[in-house]
Amino acid sequence: MRLKDKIAIVTGGSRGIGQAVSELFAKEGATVIIADLLPQGQQVANGINSSGGNAEFHSVSVTDKAAVEKLFAHINDKYGKIDILINNAGITRDRTLEKMSEDEWDAVIDVNLKGVFLCTQAVAPFMKANKYGRIVSAASNVGLRGNFGQTNYAATKAGVIAMSKTWTVELGRYGITANAIAPGFTMTDMVDKIPEEHFATIKASIPLKTVAQAIDIAYGYLYLASDEARFVSGICLTIDGGTSR
Ligand SMILES: NC(=O)c1ccc[n+]([C@@H]2O[C@H](COP(=O)([O-])OP(=O)(O)OC[C@H]3O[C@@H](n4cnc5c(N)ncnc54)[C@H](O)[C@@H]3O)[C@@H](O)[C@H]2O)c1
Repeated sequence: MRLKDKIAIVTGGSRGIGQAVSELFAKEGATVIIADLLPQGQQVANGINSSGGNAEFHSVSVTDKAAVEKLFAHINDKYGKIDILINNAGITRDRTLEKMSEDEWDAVIDVNLKGVFLCTQAVAPFMKANKYGRIVSAASNVGLRGNFGQTNYAATKAGVIAMSKTWTVELGRYGITANAIAPGFTMTDMVDKIPEEHFATIKASIPLKTVAQAIDIAYGYLYLASDEARFVSGICLTIDGGTSR
């Protein structure tokens, strides 16, 4: 098992990529703390526990500094450490530049950028005390390439890559690594509103001519969260079927 006895917090673990990460990490021996607003995270945790793993669900928004700090302190008290933080929670509010409202801009910045900042800030003292930590955050290939209708989202995902590089230099001396993952188009609820004809165009544009499933992305998180990635920090691992090259 690649994460035996590790304590891992997965934000946005109630569905999609975060659910796949939670289930895979539990299978690899981690105790998984799912932090999400969607109550179905409780079912994900129940499923993990009933198949022999360890998981708990906590209803929390990554944008709520006090709630995040309270949860992380509780987990650290209960288990004596936090080894892994997966900053996966994210949202979209797509609109072209001139039509995008300030509310749409703020909502995406709040979750995808400030949420990642708040969770990492809250976990850092616990990881420093243990001289061990793996921080892996959700970027996107949109953060590298831009995308039509995603000014807000692209800005946050580029920001996640830049924050990870910054934490690499700030936290490396404490045995903490910080990396980002940049998935391409992945089949989850986040993309289920995309019209069929647009979907065919997306598929055709990917060199591997298929889209990712959540588990394809979860394997990248597993590597960067594991001891095997001891000497890997400040990278953005692109998992997008060859689209970004
Ligand atoms: N699906 C894709 O094509 C794709 C591509 C690149 C990057 N990503 C990124 O991967 C991550 C996961 O995406 P997904 O496709 O699984 O999305 P999803 O919408 O299926 O899941 C996102 C999860 O985050 C949770 N969440 C949203 N706001 C939250 C908040 N304030 N506090 C706590 N939890 C919150 C949601 O409740 C949900 O469970 C996101 O950061 C996304 O931007 C996804």
